[in-house]
Amino acid sequence: MRTQVGIIGAGPAGLMLAHLLHLEGIDSVVLETRGRAYVESRVRAGVLEHDTAQLLADTGVGARMRREGLVHTGLELRFEGVSRRIDLAALTSGRGITVYGQQEVVKDLIAARLAAGGEILFDVTDVELAGIDSDAPVIRFAHEGTIRELNCLVVAGCDGFHGVSRGSIPASARRTVEHTYPFSWLGVLAQAAPSAHELIYAQHERGFALHSMRSPEVTRLYLQVPNGTESSDWPTARIWDELHTRLATNDGFTLKEGPILEQGVTPMRSFVTEPMRYGQLFLAGDAAHIVPPTGAKGLNLAIADVRFLAEALTTWFRQGRGTGLDEYSARCLRRIWRVQHFSSWMTGLLHRPADADEFSHRLQVAQLEYVTTSTAAATTLAENYVGLPLDWSSRVDTPVTPTVPFA
Ligand code: APR
Ligand code: PHB
Repeated sequence: MRTQVGIIGAGPAGLMLAHLLHLEGIDSVVLETRGRAYVESRVRAGVLEHDTAQLLADTGVGARMRREGLVHTGLELRFEGVSRRIDLAALTSGRGITVYGQQEVVKDLIAARLAAGGEILFDVTDVELAGIDSDAPVIRFAHEGTIRELNCLVVAGCDGFHGVSRGSIPASARRTVEHTYPFSWLGVLAQAAPSAHELIYAQHERGFALHSMRSPEVTRLYLQVPNGTESSDWPTARIWDELHTRLATNDGFTLKEGPILEQGVTPMRSFVTEPMRYGQLFLAGDAAHIVPPTGAKGLNLAIADVRFLAEALTTWFRQGRGTGLDEYSARCLRRIWRVQHFSSWMTGLLHRPADADEFSHRLQVAQLEYVTTSTAAATTLAENYVGLPLDWSSRVDTPVTPTVPFA
């Protein structure tokens, strides 16, 4: 088999890359270890930044998202029994987020690729990279009982945190920066109408809680839990009790309950691999970086990476110029570190570490009051939450221009 770009992983990064390359007339083949039904039903994140949603729409894969996705122009920060709204749209010249499950994005991208004659091989095993430091890389894998080879000019490693791509780069040619947070999230999907129109991020002395949603009938909820927690430690009644307590307000907020469809525990981690290129292998998405979910950025960062990569590959294939590919890693990493900071800042603002004392609690409340009353502080949250413009990182070279980011 032969193609221009061999893409490992059919998550949002790999599928979006295949789609963007196709629009530029560049061939790719996507290899995925899981089955199609599995990747289309795996419950993950659900918040699309303004530009992520716009990209889906602009490239012809946003029709269902525009119909079924929930556009939010604000969010609530809840602490000390009160809720304060951050008006995202007012603070960012009309931008907002779209709540639309990651697996719905994945379904739409798979459908578009297949309709356009694109090749996605599901249920592959034993994926191995060879020759990535040459101009003729090869991906070896097994599919339907046969060992196969995909010859390509470029390999895109979009195979998530547990994939093989990152480990194919010699240890001497990469470094990782990592931070583990002292808590995890218990995520719950409930067959219940959302209890508010917008997302609620709650800081509480018993720990963080988040009210999100997937549709007018399905609520997505999260609770901060200690590391090492097993999902089975949390029977249904305990989950609802804790959510009621942490989301309570002084003016009688009521949380709607319903049957729990799914629950699971996710650790919170920050992780970055540098650089994101080795020879002809380019890493994108979770294969290169993980952010804690508090800022809702994992999926959006993956999409930003592949936008940069598709642009650089287009210049390379069309004009033979490799400068975009040479700059790919640095360009991505500027955005990644901005998002790492934002995600870690949101996490610190809202979670309660096990060793929290009165001092740290008071600082947290003071910061929450500031963020919800000062336009400058609220704008910082809002512009990062709806997503900085894609070309934001080019401004790093000219830092002090006093312009409004969303003019
Ligand atoms: N070969 C081929 N495919 C693989 C391999 C492998 N060796 N290992 C993993 N995969 C597949 C996974 O099964 C998965 O479908 O690669 C895909 C990676 O997809 P994601 O984990 O979704 O990562 P990414 O596309 O970078 O999306 C970023 O945003 O919401 C966040 O962390 C969340 O998934 C998320 C992400
Ligand atoms: C979600 O809906 O799954 C979600 C929303 C906001 C977050 C994280 C996850 O910060």
